[in-house]
Amino acid sequence: MPTLGFLKKKRTKDSTGSKDLDSPTSPIKDSASPTLTKTLTGFSTHSKGSTTHESTAPSQSTQASTAPSKPSEPMNPSGFPQQAYATPQASPEHYQQTSHNAPSIQNLIHPTNQPYQGQSPPPPAATKPANGGAAHPPPPAQPAVRTTKGKYTLTDFQIQRTLGTGSFGRVHLVQSKHNQRFYAIKVLKKAQVVKMKQVEHTNDERRMLQQVKHPFLITLWGTFQDSKNLYMVMDFVEGGELFSLLRKSQRFPNPVAKFYAAEVTLALDYLHAQNIIYRDLKPENLLLDRHGHLKITDFGFAKEVPDITWTLCGTPDYLAPEVVASKGYNKSVDWWSLGILIFEMLCGFTPFWDGGSPMKIYENILKGRVKYPPYIHPDAQDLLQKLITPDLTKRLGNLHGGSKDVMNHPWFAEVTWERLQKKDIDAPYVPPVRAGVGDASQFDKYPEETEAYGQSGDDPHGHLFPDF
Ligand SMILES: Nc1ncnc2c1ncn2[C@@H]1O[C@H](COP(=O)(O)OP(=O)(O)O)[C@@H](O)[C@H]1O
Ligand SMILES: [Mg+2]
Repeated sequence: MPTLGFLKKKRTKDSTGSKDLDSPTSPIKDSASPTLTKTLTGFSTHSKGSTTHESTAPSQSTQASTAPSKPSEPMNPSGFPQQAYATPQASPEHYQQTSHNAPSIQNLIHPTNQPYQGQSPPPPAATKPANGGAAHPPPPAQPAVRTTKGKYTLTDFQIQRTLGTGSFGRVHLVQSKHNQRFYAIKVLKKAQVVKMKQVEHTNDERRMLQQVKHPFLITLWGTFQDSKNLYMVMDFVEGGELFSLLRKSQRFPNPVAKFYAAEVTLALDYLHAQNIIYRDLKPENLLLDRHGHLKITDFGFAKEVPDITWTLCGTPDYLAPEVVASKGYNKSVDWWSLGILIFEMLCGFTPFWDGGSPMKIYENILKGRVKYPPYIHPDAQDLLQKLITPDLTKRLGNLHGGSKDVMNHPWFAEVTWERLQKKDIDAPYVPPVRAGVGDASQFDKYPEETEAYGQSGDDPHGHLFPDF
């Protein structure tokens, strides 16, 4: 059994605790259900395709430049705990004090050291300006593989507020000085990445993100570095984390959970077809775009793994038993995590949660007993039992039919997958991004970074990140 010290991410951001689905402040209503059921079948013809903003590369510089609370909610006639996250926190101010992806350590007992075997070659080194912003032509419209290396520098952007904090740095809202559009930049402190033995994962994050292109995956436009930090330029996804929506709603109605689960399923299907395991599925890493469709962000643990790997990483509540037991594992850990995600969306807490102690969670995962609350739809429960199973010969997604077995499960019966893939199905909840582009109101507030970005000087770790 792993010790806490082996795991990178811990969940510490908690629920507002006191809201339920009938609350006037709950953003999702049960009444959303019939509409969603209808739209999932594709009756709605209103197309909500991605906007130009979502796929617009930032212009480049043309000049050289350098827990659960006590189960006390009234909606729970069975007495089944509805919330599983620490003390109720009624005030959003709480979040300002709390980093929900707080560094809780490090992993890597058996680094795999597998050579990169991506379909696509690494971006040409020649495109990297020498610590400057020599202009390069914008990437062609939607090439098979985007060339994302070294096109930007810090001076191309005006850094604005923090959108989220992570284990090694933070994500900022930024505005391009060239096209005035908004982007998100993930800033990773090199020293922290090295200290937490995440060099390989960070290089993988960059490489995997460069390689993928899918409606439900975040778009990476480029990366750069200075003496202290690594920077990843992504689309800004305005609608906030699914985590926040779920905590505000307490739990999602069955069709709402189904909608998000279906979009995640399509993304996993795509990633697995490229032999990429995602390994960090959880609501904190699922963002809502302005129309309410999902974008998966955070490829910090994503890795190309054609068969089997051993690295212990992820977030305790979401770890599959074979990971907890330090066995070799494969893509099917993502299907396990999908089960945990669906459970959390339907119930408001994760199935193995236990007093907030990761060791307790691991014990529960290995015991494998899941209590299904009576309000879970029988089809959903059937799917969950087939995903949250330690028996790899039975786990849906890992069988002969692969991800199609998941998609063909009765719980997803009304999903028209082709239309969903095209975002041709209305989302159940449209985030109130009222102030237009650059509105970050859907994100929690965090204390801002005090150390200046863009410092020159000693860079003992620069050589470790050749692709940035
Ligand atoms: N492209 C993005 N647009 C808006 N917010 C983002 C974006 N990427 C990440 N975030 C926010 O920043 C948080 C931390 O980023 P993430 O990549 O998950 O870091 P970590 O690997 O440390 O968990 C996310 O949970 C999310 O709230
Ligand atoms: Mg994250």
